[in-house]
Amino acid sequence: MSMTTQTASDLVIRVKEKFQQVFGDSATLTVRSPGRVNLIGEHTDYNHGFVLPAAVDKAIYMVVSRRSDDEVHLFSFDLDKAYTCSLNEIVPSGLHWPDYLLGVVQQLQALGLSPGGFNCVFGGEIPLGAGLSSSAALECATAFSLNELFGLGLDTLTMVKLSQKAENVFVGVQCGIMDQFASMFGRKGQVIRLDCQSLEYTYFPFRTEGIRIVLLDTQVKHSLASSEYNTRRQQCEAGVKLVQQHHPEVKSLRDVDAAMLSAYVAPADEVIYRRCSYVVEENARLLAATEDLLRGDIAAFGRQLYGSHEGLSKKYEVSCPELDFLVEKVRDREGVIGARMMGGGFGGCTINLVKDEAIDGLVEWITPLYRKAMDKELKAYIGQIEDGTSLV
Ligand code: GLA
Repeated sequence: MSMTTQTASDLVIRVKEKFQQVFGDSATLTVRSPGRVNLIGEHTDYNHGFVLPAAVDKAIYMVVSRRSDDEVHLFSFDLDKAYTCSLNEIVPSGLHWPDYLLGVVQQLQALGLSPGGFNCVFGGEIPLGAGLSSSAALECATAFSLNELFGLGLDTLTMVKLSQKAENVFVGVQCGIMDQFASMFGRKGQVIRLDCQSLEYTYFPFRTEGIRIVLLDTQVKHSLASSEYNTRRQQCEAGVKLVQQHHPEVKSLRDVDAAMLSAYVAPADEVIYRRCSYVVEENARLLAATEDLLRGDIAAFGRQLYGSHEGLSKKYEVSCPELDFLVEKVRDREGVIGARMMGGGFGGCTINLVKDEAIDGLVEWITPLYRKAMDKELKAYIGQIEDGTSLV
C-alpha cells in the first residue's frame, strides 16, 4: 500500500533513461519534489489563517539540462508527450500539463531573472486529482531545478511564492500558499504549522506511537475544484467586505470573530455567513488541535478532524457524497482515531489517523462497502512524512 523507496528509485532511473533517450544528453540535474498531506486547517491559507501540512513520500522527479539556445523542451514521462516553445514567448500551452512549468518560467522572468533554454523530463508517483497537490509539486520541482541549473540564487520562500503565483496567474487557480510551502519546506517526520498571515512556521514532530496516516482515495477527480475553489475565495472576500463596513481595520477573516459574523454577515447573506463561520471555526480548531498534539492527546486531535470534516461538508460545502461516505463509515470503526476530507475538496482523498494493527482490516472492510455504495474502486495509501524538495 505504501510507496516503497524501491519504486521511487526505479522511477528516477526510468525518468533519467527517458531523458537520455529524448535528448541524448547526460549533463543533468535531478530534483525530487513531494506532494503533501494536510492534517487540519483546510481552506484557511488564502484567508490568512493556519495550516498543518507535511510533505509525503510520493513525489515528482524532474531531470533538467541547459540548452545553448532559447528554447524550452518539456517531456512528460507519464503522458509520453512533448512540448516545445521559446523563452521569448511563454504563453499558456492549451494542453494544461506544460502550464505548471511554463507558469514558473514566466514568474522567474517577471522577477527580472533570465533562465536560459533547457531540456526537461519529469515523471511522478503522486496520484493526480487525489488532493495530494501534484500540481504544486510540479511547480516547485521546476522552480528548484531552474534555480539550481542557472544559479539564480533564490531562497526557498521566494521559490514557494513564485510557484504559487504561477498557479494563480498562469494556471488560473487562486490557490493559497499551503501546498507549495509544504512541498518545499517539508521535513521528515514533522508537520509544519504555518501562519499564512505572517508566514511564520514551526515544525512539530508527528510523534504518534503506533498510529499512521492513511489516505483513502475516492477516485473522484476533483474537476469542479478550480471553479468552486475560486468561488469560495470570493465568498470569503465578500464576508470580509461586509465586516469592514463596521471595522475598517479588518484585513482578512483572520481578524474576524464569530460575534462580528453574526452581527454583520448573517443578516446580509446566509451562504456567505456559513462560509465565513467555517473558516473562523477551522482556525480555532487548528490551534486547539496543535495543543492536543503537543499534549500527546491523539484522541482529542482525532475529534478535531471530524469537526473539520463536518464544517467542510455542511458549511463550506466542498465535500462530495464519496468523501462523506468514507468519513461516516470509519467514524465508529475500531482503531480509527479521526478522519476528514483533505485538500480543496469535491473528490480526492480522506485523511485518516489509524492504529497500525487496524489498517489492513480497515481497508479490507471498507473497499467492498465503497464499491457497493459508489460503484468505484477505492485506493489506499499510507502517508509517510518526508523531506521537501531537494536534489536527488
Ligand atoms: C488546495 C489549494 C491550497 C488550499 C487547499 C484547501 O489544495 O491549493 O492552497 O487552499 O486547497 O485547504
